[in-house]
Amino acid sequence: MKNVLLIASEAVPFIKTGGLADVVGSLPKAYNRDEFDVRVVLPKYRVIPEHFQQQMEYMTNFYINMSGRMIYVGVFQMMLDGVTFYFIDNEYYFSGDRIYEDGLWDLEKFAYFSKAALTMLCVIDFRPDIIHCHDWQTGLMPVYLKNEFWDSSSYSDFYQNMKAVMTIHNLKFQGVWDTKSVREITGLPEYYFVPDKMEAYKDANLLKGGIVYADKVTTVSNTYAWEIQTEEYGEGLEEHLRYHNNKVLGIVNGIDTDIWNPATDKLLASKYDAESAIKNKKANKKALQESLGLDVDDNKMVIGLISRLTNQKGLDLVNDVIPGIMDGNTQVVVLGTGDAQYEDTFRYYEDKYKGSFCAYIAYNENVAHNIYAGCDALLVPSRFEPCGLTQLISMRYGAVPIVRETGGL
Ligand code: ADP
Ligand code: GLC
Repeated sequence: MKNVLLIASEAVPFIKTGGLADVVGSLPKAYNRDEFDVRVVLPKYRVIPEHFQQQMEYMTNFYINMSGRMIYVGVFQMMLDGVTFYFIDNEYYFSGDRIYEDGLWDLEKFAYFSKAALTMLCVIDFRPDIIHCHDWQTGLMPVYLKNEFWDSSSYSDFYQNMKAVMTIHNLKFQGVWDTKSVREITGLPEYYFVPDKMEAYKDANLLKGGIVYADKVTTVSNTYAWEIQTEEYGEGLEEHLRYHNNKVLGIVNGIDTDIWNPATDKLLASKYDAESAIKNKKANKKALQESLGLDVDDNKMVIGLISRLTNQKGLDLVNDVIPGIMDGNTQVVVLGTGDAQYEDTFRYYEDKYKGSFCAYIAYNENVAHNIYAGCDALLVPSRFEPCGLTQLISMRYGAVPIVRETGGL
């Protein structure tokens, strides 16, 4: 039996801002339970829905030393679908309205989280063989593990030889602050702040630290694993990743096939499987057209787009071609929130092409399910896409993905 701990800043169904949460929520369920004991640790954000908060059980508390200050760590626990989730409790850090904020606050919050989660293992006596870290928020975990914890006399040999895997879901976000602040907040000595460790372009870089000290670095598709070693996609870390090339590999994400299953999906107007897809998708298309104010017509091709509306997602490419797509035979449904420029452009098109274009500017899981089920094709025009989940979900729902050739797409 091997023990695995996933550490991340978000996971479905507790808290989600993007695909990272989908993966951290669904990956533990996919392990073979006879061979692996897989657990997850997350921050206990105040914005986690109340019904989950009520199911969490208090386990213990202790204090950790962050740069000379002793800080409280509460640990809560909850089982979900056979997976144990731990939650690190500290109201000072985790009571914001949003899980990611600006400035030094995020550095302090996630440095605290990484060290608290690592210390927790010894306190609750769960010894992972592998700690699986996700994105920059947990980049300090391998650094603390290999340096402060491996050889620490305070823990005898509890942490000795524990391995760390660092998964990069999106290299665009690296956790970069000035070296002085990172030194002060993390309590790490000067030794780490050099170009072959945590320093990059004179600043300190949390993800870079994670890459250096992890035993393996994975990213979420094969293509992205080599793309990030090129100047075009490397976000300034390409040379560093090439240097560590022998431990970098790509493993394509999966989706949760229970949540995303048109044969059992209660949100759909008509459920279907591979056999009944052609027939029953028509009912879903009709329901979608009705509910979104599109002309109800089975002969129109419906193209869906479900996305964060940011520069990464290649929306400029779409905006330029919309007038050409709106040929009278085609309808477009956009579901997303993000940058005002994209929201406004899509609203403009909705007004211009009434009955054929729908701009649903919101984050809404239920509507997402209905779009996957009701559309004929799903557009994913990303400039870069480490993996991408919407194209995988759309295939599961019998909608043809139309994608730009990059990363996992
Ligand atoms: P990223 O993590 O870069 O945003 P992914 O394709 O990996 O991209 O994951 C996006 C996830 O978020 C998918 O599960 C998708 O269905 C969901 N999603 C994105 N935007 C919305 C929205 N406006 N409403 C509901 N779900 C959304
Ligand atoms: C990131 C990437 C996306 C990937 C997701 C989960 O958000 O942008 O491509 O699917 O992480 O790994």
